[in-house]
This record gives sequence, structure tokens and C-alpha cells, in this order.
Amino acid sequence: MTSAAGSPIETARANRAMLGLRGRGAIITGASHGIGRETALRLAAAGAVVVATGRDEPALRSLAIEAECTGGVIHPHRADLTDQADRDRLSAAARRQVGLVSILVHSAGVHRRDPLAHAPVAHLDEQFAVNVRAPYALTQTLLPDLIAAHGDVVFINSTQGLSAAAGVGQYAATKHALRAVADALRAEIADTGVRVCSIFPGRTATPMQEQIFRDEGRPWNPDLLVHPRDIANLVVAAVALPAGTEISEVVIRPARKL
Ligand SMILES: NC(=O)c1ccc[n+]([C@@H]2O[C@H](COP(=O)([O-])OP(=O)(O)OC[C@H]3O[C@@H](n4cnc5c(N)ncnc54)[C@H](OP(=O)(O)O)[C@@H]3O)[C@@H](O)[C@H]2O)c1
Repeated sequence: MTSAAGSPIETARANRAMLGLRGRGAIITGASHGIGRETALRLAAAGAVVVATGRDEPALRSLAIEAECTGGVIHPHRADLTDQADRDRLSAAARRQVGLVSILVHSAGVHRRDPLAHAPVAHLDEQFAVNVRAPYALTQTLLPDLIAAHGDVVFINSTQGLSAAAGVGQYAATKHALRAVADALRAEIADTGVRVCSIFPGRTATPMQEQIFRDEGRPWNPDLLVHPRDIANLVVAAVALPAGTEISEVVIRPARKL
């Protein structure tokens, strides 16, 4: 058996373990709100140089100011991830701002609910475009950087990506597809030193979940839900792990059954 100790991958990871996340370049999608926002703040606090993207420019600007107050660096970048030109501009801007992109966190997502009997097929296309096609294409564009950096790709999936509930077949189908993208990628690039992590959250206190509560006619009670900060901490833990170890999949859900 050959040992990987002393290989370039091992050396890069050992350096990284000493430095924490300091200086690592990161792109976080869906960073204007919810889980992506918390993740951008936590990664910046841990020393990563972050490009935060979404469509809501004022929200991205206030995120950058919040990070600055705690000594973190977040570059806001507006992009509609369903638009290839926007995705290309995002990748180019990130390379200029952070150099090599070594952490890519896919948190952007959309959620629609309706049983198959009524759900418009256009809603399936919309969710597929944001939840699957965009992270697939963005990862493909940035893969050379991630390989050169022995980096990390994190997909924020959903418990609906493991088992589909009634009424959310379209959303669950996109999240099952996203798990397949992550699993295939992990297998394809296993020997490059790039790690691939899928996180499967249950109900989490974000604007998306608040809308789901409204649709279900429930009173909004964020205290019963996972806090987005807990998912952000999982992301940081996964990308800060030392050499030779990967967190491939994590399920995180409210302890109390809703
Ligand atoms: N909250 C939950 O209970 C829960 C549970 C399981 C999984 N998840 C998953 O976790 C991830 C984050 O969800 P969240 O709860 O944080 O949702 P959220 O608060 O609604 O935030 C969603 C983010 O996605 C971005 N986004 C949506 N469409 C986009 C587009 N076309 N182009 C660029 N950005 C786009 C939004 O940006 P703009 O608003 O700026 O466009 C926003 O920043 C999603 O993948 C979701 O499926 C959430």
C-alpha cells in the first residue's frame, strides 16, 4: 500500500490545517438570505475571502458591511444563476477578487409545493434550473480551480433529497438529482484531493421556510426549527477538516418532530 503522506495534496492540506481558512477563496451562492448568508458570514469570520452571490443587491451589500464589522472580507456579486452570462461573469469576477476558488458552496435554491395533479410543469423547470442545472454548470466552470486548490464543493441539499413527501414531488426530484450530481462528482474526482459534501437540512428558520409555513397555514415559529447558523457551522467544519478526511454527507433536522 502506498502512503499519500508528503504528496502535494497532503502538503496543501497540512498547510491549510495550520492556517485555518485564512486566504482561501470561496464562492457562496444564495448568500443574500437564509443558509447561504450565514455560511458566507461564518466562512469570512474563519478567514476565507468570500464572494457572496444572489440577485438581491441591497441584501448582498449589507452582508458585506456586516462582515467588515467583524474583520471579514465579503465581495458582493449580483447574479441570476439561471443565466449563463451571469454565471460566467460571476466566475471571472471571483477569480479576479479571490484568486483561486478553493471553496464552492451551493446554497441558492427555490421551493414550490403542489401535488402532481396540479403542479405546473413550468415550476418543475424553474426549480430544476436553480436547484440542479445552475450548481452543475457552475461547478463545471470552476472545477479546474477547485482541483488546483485541492478544494471543497458543498451542496446544500434537503431531507427531501433523501425521501420525498407528498406535495413536494417537483422540489424533491430536483434535490434527488442534486444528490446524484454530488455523488458522481465525488467518485469522478476522488484522486484529485477535492472533497464533495452534501448537507441535507430539515426545516430551517429562513425566508424560504417562513413562506412554507404560510403556505401550510401554520403560525411561524422559528424556535422549533434548525438555525441557519448551525448549518453554516457544519459547512465550516467540513471545509476546515485536515488532510485525508471528508465529510461526505450530513443530515441535520429539528430535534422535535413538527
Ligand atoms: N429553509 C429550509 O427549511 C431548507 C430545508 C432544506 C433545504 N434547504 C435548502 O437550503 C438552500 C438555502 O435555502 P434557504 O432556506 O436559505 O432559502 P432562502 O432563504 O429562500 O434563500 C434562497 C437563496 O437562493 C437565492 N436564489 C434563488 N433563486 C436564484 C437565482 N435564480 N439566482 C441566484 N440566486 C437565487 C436567493 O437569492 P435572491 O433572493 O437574492 O435571488 C437566496 O439568497 C436551498 O437550496 C434550499 O433548497 C432549505
